Amino acid sequence: MKNIDKKSLAKAYNLFDTGDVDKIAIGTTKGLQQTHKYLFDGLYDFAGKVRTQNISKGGFRFATAFYLKEILQKLEQMPDNTFEQIIEKYVEMNIAHPFMEGNGRTMRIWLDMLLKERLKSVVNWQFVDKTLYLQAMERSPINDLELRTLLAAHLTEDINNRKIIFKGIEQSYYYEGYRKEDDES
Ligand SMILES: Nc1ncnc2c1ncn2[C@@H]1O[C@H](COP(=O)(O)OP(=O)(O)OP(=O)(O)O)[C@@H](O)[C@H]1O
Ligand SMILES: [Mg+2]
Repeated sequence: MKNIDKKSLAKAYNLFDTGDVDKIAIGTTKGLQQTHKYLFDGLYDFAGKVRTQNISKGGFRFATAFYLKEILQKLEQMPDNTFEQIIEKYVEMNIAHPFMEGNGRTMRIWLDMLLKERLKSVVNWQFVDKTLYLQAMERSPINDLELRTLLAAHLTEDINNRKIIFKGIEQSYYYEGYRKEDDES
């Protein structure tokens, strides 16, 4: 694991341990930016800042930088009361991909905070298979059924369980290729 990601992981743990996570706005672009700033402050000069360059991955082009601010303004007004609505909003946020780096990790925390607030549940990420999840995410701009089914199967009401939260954060970093275990060698 690169030093930068190790430091970011420590910041992610800290976000929950300090209770700072409860001060972050829920379901909004501002809240997403606050979380990104928290995870990457001092590590990336663009921490918390919306990108101005276009990016793509796996042949998928995320939202055009030129329209990004407008898109984000509309997006945050999407309803987020039911599980289906929350997933739809998460999918749109993923299509927006507001940052140059760190989108996946930031957005999963944003999603969990929404689920926690509205449904008194969070995703138990440690049991969400990496390959299945990434496939479902790639598919989600066309159809979000796979993602909805996968995450619905792994919701937990044990929302204040520190072990579940920390395992979830580690899994989230693992999805993006960072593993704590890789440090030992
Ligand atoms: N081709 C794709 N289409 C749709 N969504 C994707 C695609 N590739 C990745 N994603 C989603 O984007 C997330 C982040 O991946 P990506 O590498 O694009 O972002 P990042 O900004 O580098 O995030 P991080 O630094 O947290 O890894 C993935 O976890 C997945 O949810
Ligand atoms: Mg990355």
